[in-house]
Amino acid sequence: MTSSSQGSVLISGGRVIDPWQNLDAIADILLRDGRVAWTRTGTNVIPDLPADTHRIDAAGMVVTPGFIDLHCHLREPGQEHKETIESGTRAAARGGFTTVCAMPNTEPSIDTPELVKSIFRGAAATASVRVLPIGTITAGRAGRELADLGGLAAAGAALFSDDGSAVANDDLMRSALVESARLGLSLSQHSEDPDVIGNAVAHEGEAAKELGLPSASAEAETNIIERDLKLLAETGGRLHVAHASTTGAVDLLRGARGRGLPVTAEVTPHHLTLTDRALLGERGPEHGWPNGRVADTSLRVNPPLRSEEHVNALVDALREGVIDAIATDHAPHSAQDKAGGFAGAAPGISGIETAFGLLMTALVRTGRIALPALIERLTLGPAKVIGTAADTLGLRGLTPGAAADVVVLDPDRSWTVRSEEFASLGKNTPLEGCELRGMVTHTFVGGVQVYAAEEQSVAHGAARS
Ligand code: DOR
Repeated sequence: MTSSSQGSVLISGGRVIDPWQNLDAIADILLRDGRVAWTRTGTNVIPDLPADTHRIDAAGMVVTPGFIDLHCHLREPGQEHKETIESGTRAAARGGFTTVCAMPNTEPSIDTPELVKSIFRGAAATASVRVLPIGTITAGRAGRELADLGGLAAAGAALFSDDGSAVANDDLMRSALVESARLGLSLSQHSEDPDVIGNAVAHEGEAAKELGLPSASAEAETNIIERDLKLLAETGGRLHVAHASTTGAVDLLRGARGRGLPVTAEVTPHHLTLTDRALLGERGPEHGWPNGRVADTSLRVNPPLRSEEHVNALVDALREGVIDAIATDHAPHSAQDKAGGFAGAAPGISGIETAFGLLMTALVRTGRIALPALIERLTLGPAKVIGTAADTLGLRGLTPGAAADVVVLDPDRSWTVRSEEFASLGKNTPLEGCELRGMVTHTFVGGVQVYAAEEQSVAHGAARS
């Protein structure tokens, strides 16, 4: 991070929610030289500040640590027509995310220390927010032999994942967990059993039946999680369940937690808020959203959208903390990748810019999760999963001396999703035309304003990891 010419920023009078300090109060915050200088509650007296202090009146707003995304696809190298580090991190800044972990299912996949370093270099040149590369678990994500996990970790990989596919081979997964134990880094597993999925593109249920889509049962997910938990109990290490989407996953996680196993999990905004009825056009009548297209290819995602029972279990698990983090699985694709039929469309949703508004509208406004808990799952929850990497970056919420990664949120402001306004090159959103209530208005990384809603501006290259 550069720290010159950042000056001071005073954010005053907002409702400050900081999970690191268990704080939820009206407070003022001063950012100075890239760090949080102080957070003050209960006084209207603000000490003398340098004349050039940038002041933000946050009355009526919510002020929190910047969000941390454990799972996003920046598509570099090799798929720059879908996204780049520059466009993806500008999208992240608009979404309130100040640190993003970049998935390695690129072309080539990030399976060598040199490639990890190249992501850091790309981020230093073009990123608006902090980028933490994720290294693959197996060489080339091919599932045949382990990648050099030690080398990837030494180069700065924050996690390991073959996202897009599960590590299906038991022996390989066992060896990966042994390495994970040695290195103290988590394996983020894409839990879909290839033998169960076959050519499925949807969740087994009414919607898939009505549309005649090949579908697979929720066992695709639980088979892998169950196997991984057994291996974890044998070997130790750190397992992180990526994009959990089923009641079975929640049950397994709850049981494993009870037995004290070192497992964490994330859930995506779309799995928390949309059911497979959306494939039939029923997008969110309870929020007043208009019907969507039937079999809209923007709903084609892995794992697939599931039934209400699954969605409810995920929301409960998130609220209870059985699921630690919300991760966007921001998966931008080109219009061409999403053209044609549902079954042929590339899986994934461009979701980093809609995450906060969607979660506020569908979960907080409806009373299903309290705002402080939501903020915890977007900040401290994910920080714990990446552990050392978060510590090294100084991601310690709004405590004095922490990196000044801060967002200002307007909890009441309504806006309509228009993908043409996305910074992301991926316009593949199932929320086109939906009104969301809850908006990110300012994003700071290391004390530098990288996004302000009014100005629609982003300081390119302001944040260097
Ligand atoms: O829907 C998905 N898209 N799920 C994944 O696991 C991979 C991702 C992608 O890379 O597009």
